[in-house]
Amino acid sequence: MFGRRGAGRAAARGRPGGELSLDGQPGGELSLDGQPGGQASPDARPRGEVLALDAVGRTHRRGAIVALHPVDLSVPRGHFLAVMGPSGSGKSTLLQCAAGLDRPTSGTVRVEGVALDGLTEARLTRLRRERVGFVFQAHNLVPSLSAAENVALPLLLGGATGEVRGPALRALAAVGLADRADDLPAELSGGQQQRVAVARALVTDPAVVFADEPTGALDPVTAHDVLALLRRAVDVDGHTVVMVTHDPVAAAWCDEAVFLARGRLVAALHRPDPDRVHEVMRRIGGGAAA
Ligand SMILES: Nc1ncnc2c1ncn2[C@@H]1O[C@H](COP(=O)(O)OP(=O)(O)OP(=O)(O)O)[C@@H](O)[C@H]1O
Ligand SMILES: [Mg+2]
Repeated sequence: MFGRRGAGRAAARGRPGGELSLDGQPGGELSLDGQPGGQASPDARPRGEVLALDAVGRTHRRGAIVALHPVDLSVPRGHFLAVMGPSGSGKSTLLQCAAGLDRPTSGTVRVEGVALDGLTEARLTRLRRERVGFVFQAHNLVPSLSAAENVALPLLLGGATGEVRGPALRALAAVGLADRADDLPAELSGGQQQRVAVARALVTDPAVVFADEPTGALDPVTAHDVLALLRRAVDVDGHTVVMVTHDPVAAAWCDEAVFLARGRLVAALHRPDPDRVHEVMRRIGGGAAA
């Protein structure tokens, strides 16, 4: 069901002893996209791997709480991946570890081949600023800065010495907000604020954009606009997006959806549609890690 690494799809691989196999190996419980294990789709093109998780796990309280069992995941460049699963299943944990916002307690995350666990805090911060973009659910703009200043912020934090307003305005134009550049966040609608957040995430031309429920606080029409922007960032500009979502409609914008349950990757869908996503969600049930 999954392509292998570099075959143009995200690949999650079952681990010996793991509950479920995700690439069609024996023991795989869910094979949901009707494709034989491990074969690339006819249109799959070899593309570089942007993000790799090797046995990445996260526990709390000295191992007493397992938020994420060891997970393997490979995301090729130019891929739009949805991470789904019930509340408490480990989605945000996976995203935070993958984005270098949290340190896994086991395993290795690589962004463009760079192992994050080998980096000092200072280098990790720099990598996050330069190679990673973030979009969160809501309220993540600096209220006292204009839209353009918010978008320019990652460039300034990254030590940009040249003019930053030009790139910020171009990024705002790309999300349809060129005429709102000097407005404060409070003067923008929720959807417009989220489009500013998308512009801010993309302005540094990051290797990968992580989005944690970016449409969770938006109405369906506005959510559609934000998802269309992310899709275009992938299709037109070759960006890579990893998005946590609860919404089967949002997942349907993605090339692939992977599903967590109780801290484990348990299923995946290539070219997910809302009905199949809903069916998987129904089958995997409740979420908290055990
Ligand atoms: N700092 C922490 N200390 C203890 N347990 C934690 C901590 N952070 C997360 N957990 C636990 O890890 C599990 C996974 O949490 P996580 O936030 O990744 O879930 P999620 O899938 O993002 O849920 P939601 O859909 O509700 O956002 C949960 O059971 C949670 O209670
Ligand atoms: Mg979460």
